Amino acid sequence: MLDSIPNNVNLENNPKLQRALQRWNPNFLDWWREMGPGGFQEDRIYLRTAIGVGQGGWANYDYVTMPEYRWGIFLANPRQGETIHFGDHVGVPYWDQVPGEHRKDLRRLVVTQGDTEPASVEQQRLLGQCAPSLLDLRNLFQVNVEEARHLWAMVYLLHSYFGVDGRDEAEEMLERRSGHPDRPRILDAFNKPISDWLALFCFTTFTDRDGKYQLASLAESGFDPLARTTQFMLMEEAFHMAVGETGIARVIKRTAELMREGKDPESVGAIPLPVVQRYVNEWATASYDLFGSEDSSNAAAFFAAGLKGRYQESDNSRYPDHVALDDVFEAKIFEEGSWTTRQIPLRRAMNACLLDAYVADCKRVLERWNAVLKEHELSERITLPSVRFGRHMGIYSGQCYDIEGNPSDEQTLQSRMVDWLPSQADYDLVKRSMVPVYEPGKIANWIAPQAKGVGGQELDFEYVQFH
Ligand SMILES: [Fe+2]
Ligand SMILES: [Fe+2]
Repeated sequence: MLDSIPNNVNLENNPKLQRALQRWNPNFLDWWREMGPGGFQEDRIYLRTAIGVGQGGWANYDYVTMPEYRWGIFLANPRQGETIHFGDHVGVPYWDQVPGEHRKDLRRLVVTQGDTEPASVEQQRLLGQCAPSLLDLRNLFQVNVEEARHLWAMVYLLHSYFGVDGRDEAEEMLERRSGHPDRPRILDAFNKPISDWLALFCFTTFTDRDGKYQLASLAESGFDPLARTTQFMLMEEAFHMAVGETGIARVIKRTAELMREGKDPESVGAIPLPVVQRYVNEWATASYDLFGSEDSSNAAAFFAAGLKGRYQESDNSRYPDHVALDDVFEAKIFEEGSWTTRQIPLRRAMNACLLDAYVADCKRVLERWNAVLKEHELSERITLPSVRFGRHMGIYSGQCYDIEGNPSDEQTLQSRMVDWLPSQADYDLVKRSMVPVYEPGKIANWIAPQAKGVGGQELDFEYVQFH
């Protein structure tokens, strides 16, 4: 089995890593069969397999059953520079082994990232059973196998660089379960159920995008194997986010078409815009929390040590100062009846900086969604909730802000929640729309078709061959 693992980490000549993976892989496959896409393990899916980091390494599409997918291990090509470019160790050569004093922090970063990968597969496990088209079904499975490959990527780091505790952590990745009462996944958003495709598209838009920003900050790391592993993962993440963004755009398009025809979207099994908005609110808010506190001593320590940089830290025009000891980050907060500005020393505010970059990115996505509404001459718009709304982490948690970030009170918030977050009636409505469509070229009534096929194929290609 091991000779079939596509890799550029010299696995062939690394007996230690081979032995480790030989032990881990059967447990991984058991996990995949138990927690991977339910009901489709024997079907042949038209999937892309990465077999190299060069351009051609990406164009490999073929039918494969998912348990036979070739999960690979890849590092991106060596970076431009050769020395750490931020924090206290500027100018020190990149580490190709884990420095003893940062071992615990690095392990924690790898484990926290790694845990999200199998978690999302678990969260999305039953969605194949109500896919709106064969192409959507195939795209879901592409995301799932790539998240599993991301797990491989993190497990490679654990086995190669973290000794016995790395091996234990790799096993535990397969033992925790999304949403499990006793052994849940590490981060909250990865324990939330994703029970329908609207939630999936919100998750891949907002939560995978958090993944992009976390990976991008790790791609700056002084620990070179981590930086180059995450750099490669980012390429796959782009596809996941595209699934989400185009998915919501297609939902909006379908609903807008019906509204223009004077029809009530709900009456024909489509999804009203206010429901889309409430799902956006739910997943954007849960994803903000993934950034951690705006004021964080851990974030400061990770930056100082050169473990985790800002978004595109190596870009000097973006950040003239890579030491970040003199500046402050200003966060607006409502305290004791008035607005004040909290001055957070910049290093402690690295999570807030990353969240800022993320929010700007989300806003661009919403502009593209709203362009669809505009095209259909509708005045409705989708908006992004304030980063102060509904937070369970950071400086705004435990405070009362409305969806726009204005100060409010407990009672008002309670009474307005049905306007802002999905109710059981919303979930039920969406669930009723989720009728599976498995005929090539056909599409469910609640969503517009994709603009084009994948892997050089037409929209009506047989992307999944049922056994
Ligand atoms: Fe991932
Ligand atoms: Fe992803």
